[in-house]
Amino acid sequence: MFPIALRSLLLLPVALRLAFAASSNSSIACNNSPLLCNRAYNNITQLGAHDSPFLRDASTDYSLSGNQYLNTTAQLAAGVRLLSAQVQTNSTTNALDVCHTSCSLLDAGRLRDWLGEVNSWLIANPNDVVTVLLVNGADASASDLAAEYQAAGISEIAHQPTSASATSNWPTLQTLIDDGTRLLTFVADITPSPSAPHLMNEFTYIFENAYENTSPTDFSCTANRPQTLNNNTEQALAANMLPLMNHFLDSQQAFGIQTPNDSYASVTNSANGGVGSLGSAAAQCTNEYGRAPTFLLVDFFNLGPAVQTVDALNGVTDAVGRTSVSSSAGAGAGAGAGAQKNGGSSAVGWSGVEHFMLCFTLLAVWCGLLL
Ligand SMILES: *[C@@H]1O[C@H](CO)[C@@H](O)[C@H](O)[C@H]1NC(C)=O
Ligand SMILES: *[C@@H]1O[C@H](CO)[C@@H](O)[C@H](O)[C@H]1NC(C)=O
Ligand SMILES: *[C@@H]1O[C@H](CO)[C@@H](O)[C@H](O)[C@H]1NC(C)=O
Ligand SMILES: *[C@@H]1O[C@H](CO)[C@@H](O)[C@H](O)[C@H]1NC(C)=O
Ligand SMILES: *[C@@H]1O[C@H](CO)[C@@H](O)[C@H](O)[C@H]1NC(C)=O
Ligand SMILES: *[C@@H]1O[C@H](CO)[C@@H](O)[C@H](O)[C@H]1NC(C)=O
Repeated sequence: MFPIALRSLLLLPVALRLAFAASSNSSIACNNSPLLCNRAYNNITQLGAHDSPFLRDASTDYSLSGNQYLNTTAQLAAGVRLLSAQVQTNSTTNALDVCHTSCSLLDAGRLRDWLGEVNSWLIANPNDVVTVLLVNGADASASDLAAEYQAAGISEIAHQPTSASATSNWPTLQTLIDDGTRLLTFVADITPSPSAPHLMNEFTYIFENAYENTSPTDFSCTANRPQTLNNNTEQALAANMLPLMNHFLDSQQAFGIQTPNDSYASVTNSANGGVGSLGSAAAQCTNEYGRAPTFLLVDFFNLGPAVQTVDALNGVTDAVGRTSVSSSAGAGAGAGAGAQKNGGSSAVGWSGVEHFMLCFTLLAVWCGLLL
């Protein structure tokens, strides 16, 4: 009797080990690849959708201010893992909305509803880690933003940093998944508050290259923000700040207005060459930094397609669990457009022109030129 009981006691740790091994099953993907599970958060490159909720699609009448053809849910399904958005105060409702520059230009609804969309996706995808980057145009307090997280039901899944300063010691994706803290949030800027420990001040942890580029030859890897760095990229890297590469082009319009450049975006986002392509810029920055950028932030992410450069930097050739999206302009412009090669793009173009004319007129009125 005794030896048998002893043997089963000895077997217990083996059973536990097996159970543990199953939780980090090497054939289960984290962020679309089993290769990424045991990599630290600061040792992977993530694809970012710049201005994720600001769409150039039917929901916005193909607004020229729109930065993406496909919505946040579709972005995540296709492999985007960083979502940026601007938070502004809606002057009518006083609510915190996600708005492009101003809520009168492009209002994509309440922040809590957008976070709710992200939450729904996270619930449906339990092995994925997502990062949200909020530009705090509303100058909202940590507790006001935390209330939006609470209302969206997404606070429970939010990661709380273990370091109050930039660190080389980030958890692996598997640890974030096992801990149930699969949402990371950075805010530019926020005064950290113990009441909202999950809202990390962006420029404590991240540095960015310049983002106001209008020509494919403008892209630079030099640390541009936070301004306190005074362009000192080495200092940012030595401090373990994570590199965020802004890689999108704006078109210069009248009155200094800039709108996302869609006509060149398939080159801007391309992995393989072309002046100002994502592939060559990422290679350049990886060389300058001595490490791959942590985030690549792009407009019209499905063009290029941008995810190819991210996979190459991560050494991922076997990505799984992604929906494939069309890499043509105007994808998502209407039913079935996602499956067409160029379908819908001329309709988008015309509508865009019309809306630009309308916008131009409104702007002229606004500036008092027609008064
Ligand atoms: C790992 O996951 C695969 C696919 O879900 C499954 O077939 C396999 O049995 C799992 N292995 C272990 C050790 O749990
Ligand atoms: C992750 O670390 C490995 C090993 O040090 C390195 O080769 C790779 O470039 C790193 N990747 C990123 C994205 O940091
Ligand atoms: C996102 O877009 C897809 C089509 O690509 C649509 O089916 C879905 O309803 C949209 N989701 C939201 C939350 O708007
Ligand atoms: C504010 O929110 C309301 C209600 O959602 C919306 O109708 C309005 O367009 C928004 N924008 C502004 C500038 O008030
Ligand atoms: C940083 O670089 C930008 C762009 O080259 C330049 O305009 C700015 O003066 C530089 N700032 C400092 C502090 O050197
Ligand atoms: C977008 O950028 C390309 C490359 O500089 C340029 O040729 C094109 O005119 C730009 N498109 C718009 C709409 O400004």
